[in-house]
Amino acid sequence: MRGGVGKSTLSFNLAYELAGKRSLLVADLCAQCNMTETLMPDESPEIDIIQALQPVLLGPAFGRAPSTLTYKVSRYCDAFHGQKDCRLIPGSAEMFAFPSTLYQQLQIANAQGRPQVVNSLLESLKTVLDDEANNIGAEGILMDTSPFYAGGTHLVLQPGFCDQLSCSFTVWRW
Ligand SMILES: Nc1ncnc2c1ncn2[C@@H]1O[C@H](COP(=O)(O)OP(=O)(O)O)[C@@H](O)[C@H]1O
Ligand SMILES: [Mg+2]
Repeated sequence: MRGGVGKSTLSFNLAYELAGKRSLLVADLCAQCNMTETLMPDESPEIDIIQALQPVLLGPAFGRAPSTLTYKVSRYCDAFHGQKDCRLIPGSAEMFAFPSTLYQQLQIANAQGRPQVVNSLLESLKTVLDDEANNIGAEGILMDTSPFYAGGTHLVLQPGFCDQLSCSFTVWRW
């Protein structure tokens, strides 16, 4: 979905609702970092998503992923007091280059005829998020993305009926 239509606002509200029922990993994948600013206001987190993604996508020259990627949301956002465990992987402005980096690596792997490398590149984001969700025992993962992720994710959130009180939606996976 294009910028400014309410993805981050909807993601914040979904995070709040879901964290009332189950432990949740929230990943801010948008270079604008609005989700991080909302869940961790006035903070400049040292750890962010790019530190985990770059070693997977670009190799060890880009450093090692930190052993833990998340911050406990209730420490920074009062609304999450009393919710189940909800943790955030903060966003990074450098994520603006993620889709083009992914595309570039895919082209190299394709040119070398290496389908397994293509698969592991396509799964890189999923691998990072699944590993972290396992580490913290999260029962669900919620991602807030930029509009440029058609090739980086395989999920679409399709709004259904919306009025002033409610909004139904469908999550498609393919
Ligand atoms: N349902 C809504 N009604 C009115 N304003 C909204 C609604 N949802 C979001 N906004 C406002 O629209 C602007 C863009 O929303 P945002 O969630 O940041 O969009 P996106 O993440 O898609 O770029 C923000 O100022 C936000 O407060
Ligand atoms: Mg946004």
